[in-house]
This record gives sequence, C-alpha cells and structure tokens, in this order.
Amino acid sequence: MTANIVFSFVEIYLHCQFFVFKAYSRGLSQIMLFLYSLLKMRGMPKEIQIEKVKKSRVDEVLAGPLAFGKHFSDHMFVADFSNGEWSSGKIVPYGHLPMSPGISAIHYGQAIFEGLKAYKNEDGEVMVFRPIDNLNRMNESAKRMLMPTIPVDFFMDALKKLIHLDRDWVPKKQGCSLYIRPVMFATDEAIGVRPSDTYKLVIFTSPSGMYFSDRVKLLVETQYTRASEGGVGFVKAAGNYGVSMFPTKLAQELGYHQIIWTDSATHEYIEEAGTMNIVLVLGNTLITPPKGGTILAGVTRDSVLSIAKHWGMGVEERPVRISEMIESIKNNTLSEAFGTGTAAVIASVGVIGYDGVDYILPDSSSTSFSVRLSAYLSDIRMGKEEDIFGWMFKI
Ligand SMILES: Cc1ncc(COP(=O)(O)O)c(C=O)c1O
Repeated sequence: MTANIVFSFVEIYLHCQFFVFKAYSRGLSQIMLFLYSLLKMRGMPKEIQIEKVKKSRVDEVLAGPLAFGKHFSDHMFVADFSNGEWSSGKIVPYGHLPMSPGISAIHYGQAIFEGLKAYKNEDGEVMVFRPIDNLNRMNESAKRMLMPTIPVDFFMDALKKLIHLDRDWVPKKQGCSLYIRPVMFATDEAIGVRPSDTYKLVIFTSPSGMYFSDRVKLLVETQYTRASEGGVGFVKAAGNYGVSMFPTKLAQELGYHQIIWTDSATHEYIEEAGTMNIVLVLGNTLITPPKGGTILAGVTRDSVLSIAKHWGMGVEERPVRISEMIESIKNNTLSEAFGTGTAAVIASVGVIGYDGVDYILPDSSSTSFSVRLSAYLSDIRMGKEEDIFGWMFKI
C-alpha cells in the first residue's frame, strides 16, 4: 500500500518532468518515458498465476462416500503478505506447504480461518453462499488478532478463479457441497512474542457431505469456558477451537455430540453449541442468544433470523438462561431447538443434557420450522426458490 502511494507520487513527478524535458530534448524525454512505464508496470495489480494439476482426482473422489472435510480438491490459492502488502497470489495444485518449526502461528496463535460453501444449482451453475459476509468476518478476526485485512476485490478474484477452476469438484448430490476454507496465519520465523510481519493466506476446498446425520444430543457445559468478555470468542481464531477440544471430548465420552457453552461469569446463560449458534423455537417466536464478545456471529444464524422475520415470525435476540430453556422443555412450550452453522446448516436437537438429566425434545415433523427452513434454504441454493435476499454469488 505505502509502496503504491510512493510510486503514484513518483509517477506524477515524472509525468511533469516528461513535459519539461520534451521541449528541450527528445532523447531525454524518451528515457523518462521508459522509466515511467517501468514504474507504472510495477504499480499495476498482477494477475493470479495458475498452475494446473496434471491429472485431476475428481472422478475417483466424487464416486466415493463424501464424509465431511476428508477430501481436498485439485487446487488451492496461496498468497503472502510482506512489507505491508499482499502478493498477487497463485493457484497451484493442492499440497503441503513448506514451513519452518519457528513460524509464529504455531507458537503464538495468530491464525484465523473461515468456512463457506459452494453449491451446484439445478441449472448446473456454481453458486457460493454469502462469500462477502464470510470475508467481512475474516477481516474482523484479522483486526482482533492484529493481522492484515484482505481487500474484497483481491479475495473475490481469488475465490472466483479457484472455484471456477475446480468447478467439477462441486458435488451435485443432495446434501453435498464444496466446503471452502480460507485460512490465514503468521509466518515470521522467530521465537519471541510479538506480532508477525509476514502472513500466508491459503484458500482450499473440500467436497463434503452431511455433517450430522442424526438429530444432535447436546450437553450443557457449566465448568469449562469457550470464551469470555474481552476475549476472542466473537472471531474465528484457531485458538477458540483448541480450547474446546478437551471439554467436548469429555461430553462425547458421555454420548453427546457437542456442548452447549455457557457464559464464563455465571454459567447460567447459554451461548452457542459446539461450532453452531443455537436457536430455540417457542410458539411462533425464535429465541437466540445475542451476538457479542463471546459468540461467533454466524452467517447461517443471520440467514435463519432473516427468513423467520420474512415469514412473519417473532425473533428475540436476548440472553437465555439455562433454567428458562429447561423449563420450556418441561412445560412443553419449547417446540424445537436447532443449531445453525455452515457445516451442519440446520441441526435439529433431539436431547439436551443438564445436571445429570437428559431432556428429550419433541420429534420434528414436516411442519416443524427447522424442517421448512432447511428445505427453503436448500431451494434457494439450488435455484428452485427465488433468492430474494441476494445471498447467492455466481462463479
Ligand atoms: C463457534 C462457532 N459458532 C457458530 C458457527 C456458525 O457460523 P456460520 O453460520 O457462519 O458457519 C461456527 C461456524 O463457523 C462456529 O465455529
């Protein structure tokens, strides 16, 4: 950025010089013109270079079962940040990245990522769901972690080229999609706690199937904490996932899929469920904990709330006590609960465990909000329903 500003000034200066010299010396002016064009080329945005795989693996991978996040497509985008600016980046065959054991990301945790999905609609077009929203959130994560932000044009150009190149990797099967994983991490090779000067951005993709095949069983966690006020719970920092592993493992040993995190100060309010936001349905109203310092502002959550409002339902974004949730199950006012997230999309909750008791939630039926919602979202993605919210981005 700074380099570009400096070059712009030099360009203007040379431009003026060019006219002055032109009057006196044709030879000199030609030298100046040559220098000018060299500088202009230096400041020009460079094209993303593309190196294609020799042989695609797409047919063999898509022919098999698609577990979530197990297979990776042919190509990835890689760009480096140094001297205050992003390199133009390149698309190369998917593979390992050489790195030193001293890179600061793996010691001091400057690492952030995103998750979004591309779908193939009924007309065979490849559409990405709300990519700008994910990029905006990635830039929020970058600011909080003192990492460089990613310009919109730069990101979208890389995304378009990568997904277009690997368009055959977007599965057509019902419930499947191409999961897109942008990740940025600090690459300074140095021991010592300080912000890195260099970073790497990688975007790679994974053809994926369903995240949860059954209704989920959740355990309310009142001992361990995912995030606290003033921390980084509201961003997608890698460390947030590291802290969740141990308590989640304990819950899984008891037969639950995921944890419902509660607030760190009192453990009386629910926050989110594993890697999903949580939504309760009481009558014609959706209730969900508010966004804030400790909860990731899910793109799916936002989509669900927008659809509910569009359908004339009440939406309450407010603190929800565990006791309120449990009471609503006991007195049958809670008709449904579900998790929302890019990976799982809408995960209906079957059981909530709290304080040694498993509370069973009502079965979903075809008229359940979560079932109608899943179908509506899927239809928007497949191009069967008009995209009135402008969420689908065509590649
Ligand atoms: C902690 C956490 N909460 C919520 C979500 C849901 O967010 P989104 O709907 O944007 O995927 C995710 C997934 O990204 C997550 O990791």
